[in-house]
Amino acid sequence: MISNTTKEQILDSARIEEVVGDFVVLRKRGANLLGLCPFHNERTPSFTVSPAKGFFKCFGCGKAGDSATFVMEHEHLTFPEALRWLATKYNITIEEEAPSAEQAEQDSLRENLFTVTGFAQDFFEDALWNSDEGRSVGLSYFRERGFSDQTIRKFKLGYAFEKWDALTAAASERGFQPELLEKTGLTIAQENRRYDRFRARVVFPIHNLTGRPVGFGARILKSDPKSPKYLNSPETEIYFKSKNLYGIAHAKKAIIALDACYLVEGYTDVVSLHQAGVENVVASSGTALTVEQIRLIGRYTRNITVLYDGDPAGIKASLRGIDLILEEGMNVRVVLFPDGDDPDSFSKRVDQVELKRFLDAEAVDFISFKTRLLLGDAAGDPIKRAALIRDIVSTIAKVPDAITRASYIRHTAVLMEMAENVLLGELNKLLRSKATSRPTDPGAVPGPSQDGVESGGPEDPGAEEQTVDEFDAITQEEEIIRILLLYADHEIMVPDAETDRTDGPQVRIRDFIVSELRFDDIRFMNPVYAGILAEFAALSDNALGYDQQRFLQVLDPEIRQTAISLMTPTHQLADWSRHKIDVKTEEQQLHKAVIDPVAYIKKKQIIRIKANKFLELKTLSEAGISSDHLLEELRELNNLQMYYNRLTNTVIQK
Ligand code: CTP
Ligand code: MN
Repeated sequence: MISNTTKEQILDSARIEEVVGDFVVLRKRGANLLGLCPFHNERTPSFTVSPAKGFFKCFGCGKAGDSATFVMEHEHLTFPEALRWLATKYNITIEEEAPSAEQAEQDSLRENLFTVTGFAQDFFEDALWNSDEGRSVGLSYFRERGFSDQTIRKFKLGYAFEKWDALTAAASERGFQPELLEKTGLTIAQENRRYDRFRARVVFPIHNLTGRPVGFGARILKSDPKSPKYLNSPETEIYFKSKNLYGIAHAKKAIIALDACYLVEGYTDVVSLHQAGVENVVASSGTALTVEQIRLIGRYTRNITVLYDGDPAGIKASLRGIDLILEEGMNVRVVLFPDGDDPDSFSKRVDQVELKRFLDAEAVDFISFKTRLLLGDAAGDPIKRAALIRDIVSTIAKVPDAITRASYIRHTAVLMEMAENVLLGELNKLLRSKATSRPTDPGAVPGPSQDGVESGGPEDPGAEEQTVDEFDAITQEEEIIRILLLYADHEIMVPDAETDRTDGPQVRIRDFIVSELRFDDIRFMNPVYAGILAEFAALSDNALGYDQQRFLQVLDPEIRQTAISLMTPTHQLADWSRHKIDVKTEEQQLHKAVIDPVAYIKKKQIIRIKANKFLELKTLSEAGISSDHLLEELRELNNLQMYYNRLTNTVIQK
């Protein structure tokens, strides 16, 4: 274990521009450095390095982080591995902290479990190739299924004898402790009998990321209703089912090279696809797909294609998978096989070229997949159609990135021949209820002036509301948070649309923003931005200081990542490189930078309230009730809207 002192020493010594510079050609742009992003394909540089802050960020693909993150991402290493990498680069001697006695015992237990599991793998493999029973029963079964000898060897497939304790006996003879065998799940102890878990089955060893065997899946040879088709190793101290993917060690390289990963259901699917030349494939084998498994794939690619059976169980599993993958911010496509086929059987029926063509041609995005699946022949049924649309939008709401959401909405609109605004309205509703259903309600700016009056809640049907672009609104929220993070303690002149004066009273930016938003009870839709805003509100209320490091050091990874992204400069960069002239820096234009997004959000709010009032007006006039007060209120709202228009048009740009 690397000691904490060494860890700090390494992170202090690592200069982001030097670390990145080992892999990317960087050129100076103002205070920053710019280059071609190593994480995605691009021809114009959008990969920025800020030596002052110690961060990198790509404005193309969104990857961002510090030196250690860069090495982890670029070299596909774990955090400790990345630290060792950096230590070598900077000639830092690693001070190993002696693990505690408990830790040491744990480590040696794990090491022993690996050894026993490795022994079992060899034993099963040897039985398959070198025993009469193994050859005539196991090997002939694999061959009959179309597995080549080369494939069988590659995956170290094996055979478990039809005997109570073949493996247990061999392992004991080798001197392995009985308890160790039980801990691997290979031996089952019952009363005073100890016997093998796997008997008379062909065996698929399951490997961890680094290729060490951690468990087994064993298939029965003849179908037997009394016995399950597959028996699997239990969870052990080296086999974590929810974190493991069958085939990951074999697929890693291909996944990186192709920047895509196929996800299948079974052991045989992985093996057969490999044999058919498709090597970027893993299976969730035996467990329902988990978030950890998706994140494991996410270390190598953001693109997953789900290949499931076309039977109801397969379809259900793929629907669940889609939502999980999208929630992780990754891209998902789906290939459904003809009913009765799985990737294994299909790959046996067609040649390699046809298989690859099929995988390419049949992969559809999740929207088309759901549409095809659920719409079916009920295309003319408006109720089913509405349910389907709601279903799709609720899946889109799971996507964390606003821009991606916007493009999925556009796609759905085209596919379903619907107005984009209607879909956006539905999406907004879901997003807002998601944001406000959080226990701490980060959507609200907490504080004294919150009087519980709902001004323009999520249900407002207003006509103009329909034109509120969800993407736009979130962009404004982002802009406000960015300004806060960077310039919270700067001062601007109190804005005044009525005069042209340039020497008015000054106000601190964070106080201004917090009080303006609070005044109109404006809530942010994006929960992360809402959370940061609430923090600023608390700072202002309690007269606490703000330190730029504050959000860069919080534990919540989403907030930290957001802060890193937003605090890395973009605009100056773009302008400088495009015009090669000394444009006003953002700091000089702060006044406008603060007023614009705040005014924008307020205008949206006004439009929402106006729409409500119009509706009320209509109802009243239909009922023949006079509504002068409403007309008066509407006039007021119009004036207010015009005020904000003027404000954004006339702010002085000194
Ligand atoms: N599985 C399991 N236990 C079972 C059945 C299935 O653990 N009783 C897991 C296995 O990992 C299996 C996967 O679910 O690989 C998919 O199941 P299935 O499609 O039934 O098996 P295949 O892998 O297709 O196996 P085969 O082609 O030999 O029928
Ligand atoms: Mn199968």
